[in-house]
Amino acid sequence: MTSERASRFLTVLQGKPSSPVPIWMMRQAGRHLPEYLELRAQAKNFLDFCYSPSMAAEATLQPIRRYDMDAAILFADILLILDAMGLDVRFEKGVGPIVETVDTEADLHRTSVETATQRLSPVYETVERVRGQLQDDKALIGFCGAPWTVALYAIEGRGGTDKSSARAWAYTRPELMQALLDQLIEISAHYLAAQVKAGADALMIFESWAEGLPSDLFQTLVVEPNAKLVARLRSLGVTVPIIGFPRGAATMIGSYADQVEVNGIGLDTAIDPDYVVKTVPNHIAVQGHLDPLLLIAGGAAMDARVREILETYNDRPHIFNLGHGVRPETPIPHVERVVELVRQGV
Ligand code: CP3
Repeated sequence: MTSERASRFLTVLQGKPSSPVPIWMMRQAGRHLPEYLELRAQAKNFLDFCYSPSMAAEATLQPIRRYDMDAAILFADILLILDAMGLDVRFEKGVGPIVETVDTEADLHRTSVETATQRLSPVYETVERVRGQLQDDKALIGFCGAPWTVALYAIEGRGGTDKSSARAWAYTRPELMQALLDQLIEISAHYLAAQVKAGADALMIFESWAEGLPSDLFQTLVVEPNAKLVARLRSLGVTVPIIGFPRGAATMIGSYADQVEVNGIGLDTAIDPDYVVKTVPNHIAVQGHLDPLLLIAGGAAMDARVREILETYNDRPHIFNLGHGVRPETPIPHVERVVELVRQGV
């Protein structure tokens, strides 16, 4: 039902170029918006905010109202799934997420897949509320973290590390690593399927920490788990388009695109547009990849880069986005300017 919506965003994910190009931005909701900060101040903490369907739905809709983006992304976090698995997850001001680490097979099974999926019910209610309020020509994106990226937080307890402990597990504790990835795949598949049932029109899988892996580990930690997750979703009857975002995949992006059956692929700031054109097959939509720091800087350089990105992907299915999330210090007029440029086209 949902995939029938007449939206530019969904048209592009069917492999058809659109003019103007659809636009949304990762972390379009959040701290750069005064209306978000006001809403956020009403919640005890970030987890409570994510689990409050009324507040999360409002946060999801704020950037649509302000910027008229083509897609809304569900307001939630990739680490909710670890909370649902029974691990202690906290978000500390100025530090970021702190997660209770796993160390044994038993730690992976504190809750069953069904219980974990059930515990995430407030998220499905958020999806339902947003879809009920969103115009028909706007798409709603559901999401989860990719298995390796979420596993990394469960192994290291926080992000922003050099990821060496998690990477070492792949060599020293391969069975436990595989069991963790498999458990995350299964819960994520049910979690995403429930988001679609609640009204999500498309899904995005955030592999935020794909960077710096040797090619053999890129295959076993990134490509295979992402491919398994997509296959599992399809086996659960999910038909909506899926966007993969292997951030930092660099020269391995082609290998990802060839083996993970996604409809769209997110491009980070570092990847060269010419390389993308040569490597990512034409039927896969590309989504990206303006530097969030250039969005902060603004001015003629930003305008020029926006036009360059639009020109590069002119004859392919393309969704305009950033290479990573909007940062809190981003000036609102710069976001407005990018939307204006994208709507003007090249
Ligand atoms: O607008 C949107 O993009 C929707 C909501 C969303 C959030 N997190 C809200 C959030 C999404 C899609 C995410 C995904 C997410 N969360 C990722 C993958 C994308 C990426 O950025 O690479 C990752 C790695 C996380 C984990 C996470 N959550 C970190 C590292 C942090 C702290 C850093 C920060 O920006 O504060 C969070 C917290 C978080 N998630 C915030 C928001 C709006 C800030 C919390 C606050 O408002 O106090």
